[in-house]
Amino acid sequence: MNNITILSDSPQTTRDIGFKIGLALRGGEIICLLGELGAGKTCLSQGIINGVCNRKDYPRSPTFSIINPHTGRFPIYHIDLYRLEKRADIFETGVEELINSKETLLIEWAEKIAYLDIPDRIEVTIDDLGEEKREIKVSGAPAHIEEIFREMEL
Ligand SMILES: Nc1ncnc2c1ncn2[C@@H]1O[C@H](COP(=O)(O)OP(=O)(O)O)[C@@H](O)[C@H]1O
Ligand SMILES: [Mg+2]
Repeated sequence: MNNITILSDSPQTTRDIGFKIGLALRGGEIICLLGELGAGKTCLSQGIINGVCNRKDYPRSPTFSIINPHTGRFPIYHIDLYRLEKRADIFETGVEELINSKETLLIEWAEKIAYLDIPDRIEVTIDDLGEEKREIKVSGAPAHIEEIFREMEL
């Protein structure tokens, strides 16, 4: 599986990268976002949602609501598993159902559902390199998404 690494030097750059991804999504993709608190998962997600929904605002983080649905060219569900630990609690949110229903998903803290087999998932791992520098790694992206990362690759 190809692994591509790019760098972001500001929150706006991360949102812009997300926006490009959002424009390129075709619906049905599952994007698993990995990385520590404050890495920039929500920031990237905001850009992706804006790209799918043709919006310019910053959609709210689903940290408390767990699942935020958005309507754009197709529905996109922004999910944050941060506050959940037990598999039963995660199951109760309906996330597994969404995964099986081929919806378009952005899943923050996807580490917490590592036990689920999600074929074709796109994995994005963000690492905080200090100050506003972030390393964004992608794997499992289909060609038209991979292309966006290739253009920004170092
Ligand atoms: N290059 C960058 N990309 C994304 N966020 C950045 C960047 N530089 C600094 N930040 C800051 O890091 C934080 C990222 O927060 P957030 O996106 O909520 O992270 P997460 O969802 O991974 O916990 C924000 O406060 C943001 O302003
Ligand atoms: Mg977040």
